[in-house]
Amino acid sequence: MAENIRDLLIRAQSLASEYLENTHSRAVAPTEEAVSALSELKEALPTNGHRPEDTLDLMHRVGSPATFVTTDGRYFGFVTGGVLPGTLAANWLSVAWDNNSAMRAQSPATEALESVAAAWILQLFDLPSNAAVGFVTGATAANLSGLAAARSHLLARLGWDVEARGLFGAPEIKVVVSDEVHVSVLKALSILGLGRERLIRVPTDDQGRMRAELLPVLDASTILCVQAGNVNSGAFDPAAELIAAARKADAWVHVDGAFGLWACVSPGYRGLARPFLEADSFATDGHKMLNVPYDSGIVIVKNKEALARSFSTTAAYLEDSAFDMFSFTPEFSRRARGIEIWAAIRTLGRSGLAALVERNCDFAKRTPDALAGTGLTVPHNVVFNQVMLAAGTDEDTSRILRAVQESGVCWFGGTKWHGRQAMRISFSAWNTTEPQFQLMLTAIRNAVRSI
Ligand SMILES: Cc1ncc(COP(=O)(O)O)c(C=O)c1O
Repeated sequence: MAENIRDLLIRAQSLASEYLENTHSRAVAPTEEAVSALSELKEALPTNGHRPEDTLDLMHRVGSPATFVTTDGRYFGFVTGGVLPGTLAANWLSVAWDNNSAMRAQSPATEALESVAAAWILQLFDLPSNAAVGFVTGATAANLSGLAAARSHLLARLGWDVEARGLFGAPEIKVVVSDEVHVSVLKALSILGLGRERLIRVPTDDQGRMRAELLPVLDASTILCVQAGNVNSGAFDPAAELIAAARKADAWVHVDGAFGLWACVSPGYRGLARPFLEADSFATDGHKMLNVPYDSGIVIVKNKEALARSFSTTAAYLEDSAFDMFSFTPEFSRRARGIEIWAAIRTLGRSGLAALVERNCDFAKRTPDALAGTGLTVPHNVVFNQVMLAAGTDEDTSRILRAVQESGVCWFGGTKWHGRQAMRISFSAWNTTEPQFQLMLTAIRNAVRSI
């Protein structure tokens, strides 16, 4: 076993730095050889342990070449972001602490840091300072958590204690989503016993926004799920109209704002997200626009008791007055992931965060003009950080996409948009700057020429 923990950590630091430096000259996607070489990891279960140094070396030698390079601003796949250096470093130190962020009694330090992170998040989003904030693994878990609070609140109002009695025999809850609801909301609804098919789906417009005029009749047992940021087009549902209708009916509104809620932090884009702030619960990600390490999601619920009731283990915990950290997340024991959120906000400040969001959105907005003359079209309005591109035929779109991916210069993926094949570019990394943007444009132009 490690005789000298300092040497081991220095080795880890040196390998990590080497990785981050070398990836600048590497193809974004791993080569087939690197992926095949992963078979070396399929060792027999060791009877006796190996040295930690050797274990780390194996991980680096075999694992590092088979990664996607998501850390140098040339990865535009899904909506991922990179890792701000300050958050990587904060992650390492907090893992060295190894304190459990379930309860204050277990870690005053993580509780203090996460409390500051929670307060700052509420200020950044301009949400009430007494809202509940939970640090969860991602927007899927945040959707699950916000929807659990919605379920608890609506059923409690109907005289049903869902935490105690479950859903058997419970009053019906109506769930309304858009036709372009993100699959993570459906996953959350299915876990919560609300069903992924037992929904009212509202048609969307050509941008992927819910059509408010087609909203069904809402009532006090309805959860309305709205979207701040369509994963393909980046479009925002017409929240002002939708939430006004929900308010009249006393329905609960849940916002999936995995990346779009971060529009709040930018003076230029705040208008897109502001109407959503009237909702009841919010799911967003730290590991997308905020660029903290995986896994990091945030749930915010204005009705603190509804979230705490959902995640209490017994009613006694609630009577215990002190809502502890585990009251706001599905887990008990967990790592203190809010620390990286604290570190990101502290190192960027309001202005740095606004600049990060605006820089990414500006690249998105410049993309259609920058690619004029290539024959590619953008089948939606670019409003935030997402851009789709399509060629004349689906086959050509797929061929161009493959050529870009194989170039190694940058990477983004494909999607289906209203029945057609499209390429989807997401600008969300802290270190995508002009040179990476230009490299990406050149890779696309070359790919178009090559087919
Ligand atoms: C709109 C939206 N909601 C939810 C999610 C799920 O996020 P996560 O993978 O962090 O759980 C995503 C991921 O891309 C998303 O874009």
